[in-house]
Amino acid sequence: MNHVTVVGSINLDTTLRVKKMARPGETIHTSTIFMSEGGKGANQAVAAKRAGARTAMIGAVGKDAAGEKMLNQLVQEGIDCQGVAVLEDTVTGQAFITVNDQGENSIMIHGGANVAFTPADVRRQKQCLQRSDFVIAQFESSIDSTIAAFQIARRCGIKTILNPAPARKKVPEELLSCTDLIVPNETETEIMTGVTIQDESSMVKAAEILHQLGIEAVIITLGSQGAFYDIEGKRGLVPAFSVQAVDTTAAGDTFIGAMSSILKKDFSNIQEAVCLGCKASSLAVQRLGAQPSIPFLDEML
Ligand code: RIB
Ligand code: NA
Repeated sequence: MNHVTVVGSINLDTTLRVKKMARPGETIHTSTIFMSEGGKGANQAVAAKRAGARTAMIGAVGKDAAGEKMLNQLVQEGIDCQGVAVLEDTVTGQAFITVNDQGENSIMIHGGANVAFTPADVRRQKQCLQRSDFVIAQFESSIDSTIAAFQIARRCGIKTILNPAPARKKVPEELLSCTDLIVPNETETEIMTGVTIQDESSMVKAAEILHQLGIEAVIITLGSQGAFYDIEGKRGLVPAFSVQAVDTTAAGDTFIGAMSSILKKDFSNIQEAVCLGCKASSLAVQRLGAQPSIPFLDEML
């Protein structure tokens, strides 16, 4: 089993269920409200751990009740949280999520401790990074800390996985040059490459642009369509399991975490790993919330 380290965000999620999203100036009633553990980084760590990986988390929470709750939950999962800082002068990250009747979501986040975490904080976790098979990061933490983590990983020959979410217009060159595998969804792919994803040939074209940036492997997640992978000379489309989605929050995170638990460092079993990711996310979308919806390995077999 792989040793996976996630450098990323930890959020307290507040989810509201609505019939349809509110438009500017509109007030609507919500049928359900609940709070749960989230944050793209923490979700990916939980997904990797529940799929069987040895998992560590590097990031930060604020010194508040939410932070204590989030951190306790990650420790209870069996995730090594020695690299999670508790920062005095900031709040724990929070996400406010509305989910409509189609299971689509819209999210507002307050970064708090996630963006206050510095490259120096990351460098203190060098040993943890060095022990990993894979280091995974997203775009909810400070970008400089993410770059620092990938640079350490690259120097130690550890493979890096970048989930460029939420999308950023400009992705720093220093980060891309240290990325081995990139896992964007369709929108993120379009923003990064300028290619509209509509069929397999557009996916091949987008993957080619990402390869030209020096990234060896590309996986484009396609929601209810599954996922497309492309490494030199090897590509394929893995269809999604057909399920009724109630809440797609953390579907992508679940995919990445589960996939990374079995992926070989030379990516030779990428198809098998993508299949496991698709299976895991098909289970997560059938349940509410982020971390509460992430499946365990026995459910995926
Ligand atoms: O990817 C899903 C996550 O995005 C949620 O858990 C929320 O915290 C937001 O950051
Ligand atoms: Na979910």
